Order: sequence, then C-alpha cells, then structure tokens
Amino acid sequence: MEYLAERKAGKLMGIMSGLLVLLGIFWLSVEFPEAFQHQMDSQGSHSSWPDPHLASHCASTSPIRHSEYLARQTSLARTLHSLGAKAYIAEPGANTQFFANFSKAQWTLSERPLLLVISPITKDGQTQVLPEVTILTPKFEATRARTLPIPSPGRPIKYIEWSEEADPYVALLSALTLLDRPSPGEHVKVFVDNSIRKFIVDGLQRASGTDHTLSTNSPSCCINATYFEHLTLQVLSAPFEITQLRERKSEDELRILKCANEATLLAIRDVHKKLYPGIRESQARTMMALALGAAGLKDGGCLTLFGENAALPHGSGTDRTLAPTDFALFDCTASLHEYYSDVTRTVSLTSKLSPEQRTVWSLVQAAQAAALQMARNGTRTRDVDSVARAVIGAGGYEKYFTHRLGHGIGLEVHEQPYLRGGSDDIINIGHTFSDEPGIYIEGKVGVRLEDCFFINEDGVGIYLTEGVGGASVLPWLP
Ligand SMILES: *[C@@H]1O[C@H](CO)[C@@H](O)[C@H](O)[C@H]1NC(C)=O
Ligand SMILES: *[C@@H]1O[C@H](CO)[C@@H](O)[C@H](O)[C@H]1NC(C)=O
Ligand SMILES: *[C@@H]1O[C@H](CO)[C@@H](O)[C@H](O)[C@H]1NC(C)=O
Repeated sequence: MEYLAERKAGKLMGIMSGLLVLLGIFWLSVEFPEAFQHQMDSQGSHSSWPDPHLASHCASTSPIRHSEYLARQTSLARTLHSLGAKAYIAEPGANTQFFANFSKAQWTLSERPLLLVISPITKDGQTQVLPEVTILTPKFEATRARTLPIPSPGRPIKYIEWSEEADPYVALLSALTLLDRPSPGEHVKVFVDNSIRKFIVDGLQRASGTDHTLSTNSPSCCINATYFEHLTLQVLSAPFEITQLRERKSEDELRILKCANEATLLAIRDVHKKLYPGIRESQARTMMALALGAAGLKDGGCLTLFGENAALPHGSGTDRTLAPTDFALFDCTASLHEYYSDVTRTVSLTSKLSPEQRTVWSLVQAAQAAALQMARNGTRTRDVDSVARAVIGAGGYEKYFTHRLGHGIGLEVHEQPYLRGGSDDIINIGHTFSDEPGIYIEGKVGVRLEDCFFINEDGVGIYLTEGVGGASVLPWLP
C-alpha cells in the first residue's frame, strides 16, 4: 500500500511536473515564437525556408532597356555640346554602366587603359546633336572589347586599338574626330569621370602636349607630340550638369530600385522570423545572404550585429550569440539589374525591452520619419540631416549619432549626393537617398533604421520600401 501510495504520489508528481514543463513550453513559445517556429521547421518543415514568395517578388522586373541607354547617351552628348566640351571619358565602373551597359564586372581595371569616350557630333548644321561612342582598347584585347554589350544607335561604335609599344593617349587623341587638326592655340575641353585614375588624366594631358615639363622629362611619352603641339587640352572633372544625369533617376530605374529594396526588406523579415536565442551572428548572416539570394538579388550581404556589437557602426569582428533581450542589427545590401538596395533593421525577439532600448529605438524611428518629411524638391541636403539630428538631440542622444544621415543610391550603394551637414547640394526630383539615423552607445546598445527614398514628381519623398509597408513599426515588427 505504502508502495502503491508512493507510486500514486509519484504519478501525481510526474503529472504535475509534466504540466509544469508543458506550461513552461507554452510560456516560452508565446515569448519566443520565432524559436519554436525555427525548431519545428528544422525538424519537420511546416513551411519551406526561405519563403518561396521571395523568389517571385522581382521576377517580372525588367532591366534597363536599349532605348534608355540611347537616351542617356544623347543627353550626355547634348550636355557636352552645350558646355562646349568635345568628349566625356570614363573607365569601367558605374558611369560606363550608366551610359554604355558595362562595368568592372565585365572589364577589370588594370594598368592598361580601356576607356569609354562619348563625343557630341552635330548634324543638320548645329541643330541635331548625336552621341558618338568610342572605345579605346588594348590591341591584343580588341576582340574581347568588341563583345562588351554596349547599346548603340544605328551608327557603329568606334574601336581604337593601341598596341603595347604605343602611347594609348596619343592613339585616342589622334583618332577622336573632333580633335582632328586643331588650329594653333586651340583650347579643347574634355570631361572625365570623377573616379578616373590620375595616371590616365596625366596621360591625356601629356599626349596633348599641355604639360611640357613632363613631356621633356619623359622620353617614352608623346610619340607624336608634333601632332598636338598646337592643342591645349583641358582635362576636367565632369561638372554638375553631367553628374546630375545619373543622380536623378528615371521611372525605369526607380522601378528596379523599388523592387531591390522591397525584396531586401522581405528577406530581413523572413530571417527575423527564424531568429532564436543562442543563434550566432555568423549563422544569421549566412541566413540573410541565402534569403537575399532566394529573392533573386545579387551580391547580397548584411552587416549582422547583436547587442552591444551594434554600437560599432561597421562591426566588431566577434561572433556573438543572440541573448533573448538583445537587439539584432541587420544592414543589408544587394543588387537587381545592377541597382543596389540598402535597408537596415534593428530587431528584437520580443516586446520585453529595457526602457533605454525603447527610448533609443523610438528616437531613431522618429528621426527617420522627420527626415523623410523634410526631404523635398528644393531642400538643401544639409537641412534633412539636421532635422534628424535635432530629433535625436531633443532626446539627449545627439552625441551618439555619429555619422551623416544618408547617401545617394543607384548603380553604387553610396553615390552623390549625400545627406550630410556642410553640404550645399539641393534635392531634386528623381534623387534617391538612404535615410539612416542611428544611436550608438559603445559597450551598450546600437540602433540604426534605414530605408531609401526617392523624390517623386510632386517633389515629395517616398520610401523605396513603401510597396511592402515601408519603415519599421516596432523592433519586433520590422
Ligand atoms: C546589357 O548587358 C547585359 C549583359 O551584362 C545584357 O544581357 C543586356 O542585354 C544588355 N542590355 C542592353 C539593352 O543591351
Ligand atoms: C605625326 O603627326 C603628323 C600630323 O598628323 C603625321 O603627318 C605623321 O605621320 C605622324 N607621325 C607619326 C610617327 O605617327
Ligand atoms: C523643384 O525645385 C526646383 C528648384 O530646385 C524648381 O525649379 C522646380 O520648379 C521644382 N519642381 C517642382 C515640381 O516642385
């Protein structure tokens, strides 16, 4: 009996503790639903991961069309003509991608120059200005240069080949139709891509005979200096009239940028659902890269920082695990048809946050919203930066907002113009910017929220992530 009673009591205890465990599990699953989702999925797949919807999101977004490339080349030619310049010269990079559909991805930079040259040619007297597209290529690579996917109008692209023993810049200048037979003392102006390497600018100047000191000191230069002795070549950085052609985005570019940014945010949300206490930064980073890839985006990756690591805006290098009450910061970028996304979310697993976490997160959220409101056609970029700073300052955290508010975005993740104090740039229709205030308290907490926006036809800022809900609502609702 005693034994039986003991057994009964034991049974009761067993049931009780079983119930307690169940209750515990229930509590945990309410508190950390994501962790349980994760465990169920890794055991038996309730749903497949990454979410299959990711793949379809941008599937029908088409790349930049042939006609748009031609329109860009024509705008450039007209701008050059109106500025009295004879050519625009660029090395493989974002600007060649913009005007001629190739970049460093197709042609790696080396000591041997390959240059894109676009010159204005006039027809019907002076009324019609058309672009002439020329490629300067190493002779031994001429066949490969001809495979570059450069959209061109009816007129064929000109290829100027320079052999190893020749001066490429002399070859270029002598072949450029518009530089033909300069009259004595003629000043010729060409504009170069602002990121062109200096030795190319030096080479062009030397070849034109402008820099006499250099040409006498360097016997290998100026194979045919006599040809250019009357020519004064001014090699100048492309001015605002040219850089704004790429800064202000077209409808088609905005279509691509929107989808890239939306898909990036969807990927972050998809990974957020899978986060659980104990996951490592490196594991979450790998999941993010997978989700971005599943969304059809290229070169996708995220800065992934947990807890106090997020207080170092560009990372700490440790591989921290996620504690239940940590913030996790994901700063993600990826590309779609060469256009980049940039989205940052600072997320939590639960709504159980410390007062400081709440304050800091809400201030950053309010600063981000205030900046979007301020950003209008005609506004100075510095004023957008300062309104975000004022919101964070009002909460007493100004000294922890240590970087500029944002950057332009498009064919490069960071491009002109910038939203920063000290800048006199004016916001214009078609401009795109990141809006990314942050608060970083070293050793404690780091919060950044980032959505990119564009200025629409009415002159108003609209998030590129608007199509999927836009800015983050709460730390646990990214
Ligand atoms: C641009 O280049 C890509 C290859 O990088 C090619 O698939 C695409 O057709 C080109 N676009 C145009 C309009 O020629
Ligand atoms: C140098 O330029 C002159 C003028 O155009 C040309 O007649 C001559 O053939 C050129 N010489 C060489 C070596 O290329
Ligand atoms: C945009 O701003 C410029 C001045 O920066 C102004 O000339 C233009 O009319 C404005 N356009 C609209 C639609 O507000």
